[in-house]
Amino acid sequence: MPHRILVTGGAGYIGSNTTLQLLDAGYEVVVADNLSRGHEAAVPPGLLRVVDMHDTERLFNILQAEQIDAVIHFAAYIAVGESMKLPEVYFYNNVAGSLSLIRAMLRADVKKIVFSSTAAAYGMPSRSPIPESEPSAPINAYGESKVMVERLLDWFDQLHQLRSVRLRYFNASGADPACRAGEDHEPETHLIPLLFRAIETGQPVTLFGDDYPTPDGTCIRDYIHVTDLAQAHISALESLFAGGPSATYNVGTGAGYSVREVLDAVEAVTGRKVPHVIGPRREGDPPALVADSTRLRTELGWAPRHSDLKTIMATAWAWAQRAHK
Ligand SMILES: NC(=O)c1ccc[n+]([C@@H]2O[C@H](COP(=O)([O-])OP(=O)(O)OC[C@H]3O[C@@H](n4cnc5c(N)ncnc54)[C@H](O)[C@@H]3O)[C@@H](O)[C@H]2O)c1
Repeated sequence: MPHRILVTGGAGYIGSNTTLQLLDAGYEVVVADNLSRGHEAAVPPGLLRVVDMHDTERLFNILQAEQIDAVIHFAAYIAVGESMKLPEVYFYNNVAGSLSLIRAMLRADVKKIVFSSTAAAYGMPSRSPIPESEPSAPINAYGESKVMVERLLDWFDQLHQLRSVRLRYFNASGADPACRAGEDHEPETHLIPLLFRAIETGQPVTLFGDDYPTPDGTCIRDYIHVTDLAQAHISALESLFAGGPSATYNVGTGAGYSVREVLDAVEAVTGRKVPHVIGPRREGDPPALVADSTRLRTELGWAPRHSDLKTIMATAWAWAQRAHK
């Protein structure tokens, strides 16, 4: 019997890509999403249950009726800037919503979860590449909401044997290589889609700071292709189904690209100039955020296969063109 997985937030960017990879790998999938930020069309027909994470009763019923074996929990709000304006909204959605899901899981006796965490857990890290041993010290409400859920999961591991793999993603990017799913956030805060939008609209995009202590003065980030990210979730599930322990892993490539390198790559793939202006630094933006993913590679045998900048750009651009048709 194939394992049955509940994917929360599966109408969103990473959740929809992961759903496709799970189906390709032979898993059976049910998606739980309230469509507050996701897209119904991103979910394969028949899989979507429109439900809010705060609805513990409904989640319990779905877990039980659908005979779910494990949960991948993507459902959350994700915009750092917004989280600093509306922290109460972020803690309610991301923390209280996750606790509601966990309560439903305990009641339904579903004891395996893969949780979407973030590099924002590290705040302003003291080194780069960043290993998981770097202390959690978020500097925004979004990052704090994710660390709070990690802490909850520690307690439920200890007290209820709820096994969890927390994946701390760096910058998710790119689209499904077969162009079945891709990035479509509203509000959009991510660099690559913003660069595409600037080309389409002619409205200059602001690059935040070119005086950082990096080779070209712009910030360096670790871009991980969404298909590689999805595969990390499948590796995490396999570990949990094999009886593996709770664990935390960074998901990145270990190689960073600067904002300017990303802009050059967008111009190369589109053959067009990106209208842009240089703005001041954004508060709380570290010069470089690059993952040390040695633990994920060695313990779960994961390796990125699509995360070179050229593949990221080619797939993201194919999706952007298709998405705006
Ligand atoms: N995109 C990135 O670069 C990145 C980096 C690190 C971590 N993450 C984490 O990955 C996860 C997915 O990110 P994404 O980029 O796919 O975001 P997304 O906004 O595209 O998807 C999130 C989905 O969750 C749903 N959702 C939100 N709150 C809900 C609720 N209360 N009940 C039911 N559904 C709800 C939304 O409708 C949406 O479909 C998030 O948890 C995010 O924090 C993303």
